[in-house]
Amino acid sequence: MDVQQTHFSAQEIAGLARRIDRPIVLVGMMGVGKSSVGKRLASLLNCPFVDADEEIERSAQMGIPEIFEMYGEDYFRDGERRVIARLIDETDGCRVIATGGGAFCNAETRALILDRALTIWLDSEVDTLVERTARKDNRPLLKDGEPREILARLREERRPHYSQAPIHVLSGPGPHVQTINKVLQGISQWL
Ligand code: S3P
Repeated sequence: MDVQQTHFSAQEIAGLARRIDRPIVLVGMMGVGKSSVGKRLASLLNCPFVDADEEIERSAQMGIPEIFEMYGEDYFRDGERRVIARLIDETDGCRVIATGGGAFCNAETRALILDRALTIWLDSEVDTLVERTARKDNRPLLKDGEPREILARLREERRPHYSQAPIHVLSGPGPHVQTINKVLQGISQWL
């Protein structure tokens, strides 16, 4: 389902929120805005927000770049899978969960999310991903090479996974409020 822009009243959003009985999981590439959109979406729906990457860092007691550096990507992916499973298990009702860009590419994690959550794929053009990821220097996968080339390649490689999400929202270069509106419309059509 591709979603166009729309606007909702506070009353309509409250009505939507009452009907949400499972976690809302945001998936998609680095830099697409999963955390920013997720926080605002959670606040509009009046439900909690959690960032899976932050939970991984909290459990490991170290930052993601350090986890990659000290233990490698496979170790990180294993922790990521366990943390997301825990976050989904412990969710009672509505909660917005932002996942790291590679999480939904793990078959087990993807199956769990698709089974237990409402999954929203946020997608952006490569230019937007390049621009947004350049604001922070905390992504190990963008360190070894040209970020634009890496982002473009990963976006293509991961598309078959992301496209399994029932809701697909294009996050443009403009303010996140436009994306939020599209996400709300996607949820209302899906419910
Ligand atoms: C990754 C994305 C990152 C983080 C890690 C790996 C990826 O999260 O989980 O650096 O594989 O795309 P964001 O998508 O929040 O940047």
